[in-house]
Amino acid sequence: MLAMKFLLVVLLLHAMLASMVTEAASGNKVKRIKPPKPVKPVQELLTCKSRKSRCFMKRIKCPVECPKVKPKNPKDKACFLDCYSPKCEAVCKSRKPNCNGPGAACYDPRFIGGDGIVFYFHGKSNEHFSLLSDSDLQINARFIGLRPQGRTRDYTWIQALGLKFGQHNFTLEATKTEKWDDNVDHLKLSYDGTELLIPEGHSSEWNSNDGEIQVERTSITNSLTVSIPDHAEISVNVIPVSEEDSKIHNYQIPENDSFAHLEVQFRFFGLSSNVEGILGRTYRPDFENPAKPGVAMPVIGGDDKYKTSSLLATDCALCLFSSKENKDEKVSPLMDYGMLDCKGGGNGITCKK
Ligand SMILES: *[C@@H]1O[C@H](CO)[C@@H](O)[C@H](O)[C@H]1NC(C)=O
Ligand SMILES: *[C@@H]1O[C@H](CO)[C@@H](O)[C@H](O)[C@H]1NC(C)=O
Repeated sequence: MLAMKFLLVVLLLHAMLASMVTEAASGNKVKRIKPPKPVKPVQELLTCKSRKSRCFMKRIKCPVECPKVKPKNPKDKACFLDCYSPKCEAVCKSRKPNCNGPGAACYDPRFIGGDGIVFYFHGKSNEHFSLLSDSDLQINARFIGLRPQGRTRDYTWIQALGLKFGQHNFTLEATKTEKWDDNVDHLKLSYDGTELLIPEGHSSEWNSNDGEIQVERTSITNSLTVSIPDHAEISVNVIPVSEEDSKIHNYQIPENDSFAHLEVQFRFFGLSSNVEGILGRTYRPDFENPAKPGVAMPVIGGDDKYKTSSLLATDCALCLFSSKENKDEKVSPLMDYGMLDCKGGGNGITCKK
């Protein structure tokens, strides 16, 4: 009997001890959680393939603030390297048009020239004007607008852009809409005469087969960027004329039209020094803007010089555009090619002094 009791006590002690040990052991198993390391974003590397560029074949790292060329979040800034800038550095830029930056065409159209000077060009509603005309790039705009009674001129907005480069045509339009809805897409695109449908959604994109043009949405609806490598990058928003603006300026916008139009910012690369167009000429190295800084609302004319017969016509008085074939014809056989900087290949060689 005594022996049984002793055995029981021993067993009990043993069990207690065992549980203490496992407790201690499990206590040791508690993992220390380290604070998560901040994930360092991968800074993409960019380079320029043109020999003319200061960045030719150099590997340029994107800034930490904007590590990616195409950020996932539509609000994040994108990394950008201008191969034609004298500085070879990647910078951050907003993917949406900046109406206060150079190359902007916003409101009833207010432009900011390549020289940074603000000016207005009113044109006429339902007419087309050349915003830029160079030997290898043409950009026209269609103006829409209205003229309230008693006004001497049309109020105008840019409703569509027509681009010509090489043998290609590209158009971008804000579709007419009675009542504006941000969630409905108001963009209509075409490439070489065929309508282009790019699914809605941020970062949804389209490339032409030959890589000559790329279009990418920069928000779910109503914003995109058009890139023509070595020529231009164009960021666009479609917006209505707001009731507030309509009141302030007394536009007298009718009930049945929201006057959907474009807000645009252009970036141009490798323009020639005699580039033309309402906006284009402000990029000439020798351009003297008749609109002086400090003047409240400098209006610049030129309707007669820059009017074209359609969105894709290049028939304005000062238009310079010629498709590649014509350009090749213009190259004089007497030129000293040793003095020229040539690029391209096959039948697309172009040379400049
Ligand atoms: C481009 O547009 C012009 C003018 O409308 C037209 O004559 C030409 O055929 C078009 N080219 C293509 C490739 O669609
Ligand atoms: C809007 O109404 C005006 C008359 O007030 C009319 O002339 C015009 O055609 C209408 N526009 C549309 C898009 O229905």
